Amino acid sequence: MRPEHLDGVLAIERHSFPSPWTRTAFASHLQHPEFAKYLVAVRGEQVIGYTGLFFGGGQGQITNLAAHPDYRHQGIGSRLLLASIDYCIVLGLQGISLEVRVSNEDAQTLYERFGFAKVGRRKGYYQETGEDAYVMCVFNLDNQEEVAKLNSIRRDLGLYEC
Ligand SMILES: CC(C)(COP(=O)(O)OP(=O)(O)OC[C@H]1O[C@@H](n2cnc3c(N)ncnc32)[C@H](O)[C@@H]1OP(=O)(O)O)[C@@H](O)C(=O)NCCC(=O)NCCS
Repeated sequence: MRPEHLDGVLAIERHSFPSPWTRTAFASHLQHPEFAKYLVAVRGEQVIGYTGLFFGGGQGQITNLAAHPDYRHQGIGSRLLLASIDYCIVLGLQGISLEVRVSNEDAQTLYERFGFAKVGRRKGYYQETGEDAYVMCVFNLDNQEEVAKLNSIRRDLGLYEC
């Protein structure tokens, strides 16, 4: 993600979340490649999806994942999540965590397909609605079962295998 992508990212962010991140929040994270990696999916000039990753202490945290409403169910979210996970593998990180709304079953299904498991629940995590969040984790990225799962997703998406 580069600064010129922010208009497109913010349009998707505002459409997707009740408390969208601000331009300042994204821009400030872009200035810290030592602990943050933001990726975009583009079609021509248009941003059609994005994801954010924080990393440190051997762990990654997915901070954002969204696809443009007109481009959902076409594998964009899966490709972005896979790219973030692959970045974690390249960095040698052990595991990845994220938070997801308890009502967001579509996203939970997507994360479970990638090997994320529900490990906790944060009460009232989303302040604007008071909704709880599930904490979901992949603990061991080099576990054989996880490697096989990711390779199967790569195959389904028509991508390379590791
Ligand atoms: C969650 C989200 C990012 C998923 O993005 P997406 O691009 O639709 O995700 P994918 O297309 O990779 O996968 C979603 C579904 O599409 C299906 N799919 C993937 N590729 C496909 C293809 N080529 N043709 C048809 N369907 C396909 C997947 O099987 C999956 O379906 P299923 O869950 O019913 O099995 C998107 O719904 C979104 O932006 N939601 C709002 C923001 C949000 O909730 N983010 C998560 C916050 S924690």
